[in-house]
Amino acid sequence: MKLRKIGNTEVPEIGLGCMNLSHGYGGYPSKEDSFALLQRAYDLGVRHFDTAALYGFGRNEELVGEWMQPYRKKIHLASKCGMQGVDGKRVIDGRAAALKATLEDSLRRLNTDFIDVYYLHRWDKNNVTIEESVGALAEVVQEGKIGGIGLSEVSAATLRKAHAVHPITAVQNEYSLWTRNPEIGLSEACQELGVTLVAFSPLGRGFLCAPELGLSRFAEGDMRLTMPRFQEPNISQNRELIKKLSQVCAEIGCSLAQIAIAWLLAQGEHVLPIPGTVKINHLEDDLVAASVALSAEIISKLDDLFRPEKIHGFRYPSLGMSEVDTERFACEQ
Ligand SMILES: NC(=O)c1ccc[n+]([C@@H]2O[C@H](COP(=O)([O-])OP(=O)(O)OC[C@H]3O[C@@H](n4cnc5c(N)ncnc54)[C@H](OP(=O)(O)O)[C@@H]3O)[C@@H](O)[C@H]2O)c1
Repeated sequence: MKLRKIGNTEVPEIGLGCMNLSHGYGGYPSKEDSFALLQRAYDLGVRHFDTAALYGFGRNEELVGEWMQPYRKKIHLASKCGMQGVDGKRVIDGRAAALKATLEDSLRRLNTDFIDVYYLHRWDKNNVTIEESVGALAEVVQEGKIGGIGLSEVSAATLRKAHAVHPITAVQNEYSLWTRNPEIGLSEACQELGVTLVAFSPLGRGFLCAPELGLSRFAEGDMRLTMPRFQEPNISQNRELIKKLSQVCAEIGCSLAQIAIAWLLAQGEHVLPIPGTVKINHLEDDLVAASVALSAEIISKLDDLFRPEKIHGFRYPSLGMSEVDTERFACEQ
């Protein structure tokens, strides 16, 4: 894979989102199968691995931490604080003391003394200024515990405020063919400030590459059960777009997952997609995207096919929507 810059490092241009091994969609693989998936990713050249204190309420960091021990120095490790499990509940807390305490937990669970990029998973916007949270993370950069500061689900305006406190290494926002919100100023701001835009849920949480997904297919506890885009009638309307996407795939000879990731890679050298999967054959499919070159004509066809007003339903239920700070299109208000 070609390399892309994140902070002062270069990493292969497709990373791996590790959340799926312990959080979000249910049906989690055994430790042995999880290690096999992580190992296959590493063997195929993936070096950027993404986890969070939230995922599995710590279990995902423990899993990644144990697997990566022989490779620690070769891995570019990202984790997140500011949203974690407390007494079995998901809690957002961006106070300086909370972030520093979570960092100590992350380091212990990951069995490392250094995390390359540490994100504020959500800005605790009703209680804590972005300056306080970023100021706390700047202190732990100085202490040598993290290499760079990341933000997640933030707007361009918040990125600029944060960047004035301490240079930001990466912003991790949802970005895919059916979630184009980073195009309202954020992507441009990232390019201008030299910040990597890490595209999470680049496959539309599976919808873009497995359109048969629907409520009846989800395991108990799968967060997509609560997401409006996956509910009827939205999902049936959204599936019409995938039929057209399949036609474009047939035209150029690639899979749905590959076109979705290749489209992101074509959005600029500052974009780093992190697809997630629990299946080795899906991982292998996703990584082929690095060798799929899309012509300007195909990119503009895809841009048009997935114009935001053509997508039905909010990406999060109302609580989730209220917790993010990202810009919205008029059709989402
Ligand atoms: N910062 C945040 O707030 C935030 C939020 C969400 C996610 N993330 C990060 O982003 C990563 C990826 O996001 P995501 O997992 O939500 O969404 P995603 O990567 O868009 O989609 C994952 C889904 O796609 C399916 N899939 C993957 N490759 C496939 C293929 N080639 N063919 C068919 N299906 C395929 C997976 O199913 P199988 O497992 O069956 O392959 C899984 O259900 C996460 O792991 C996490 O690290 C961050």
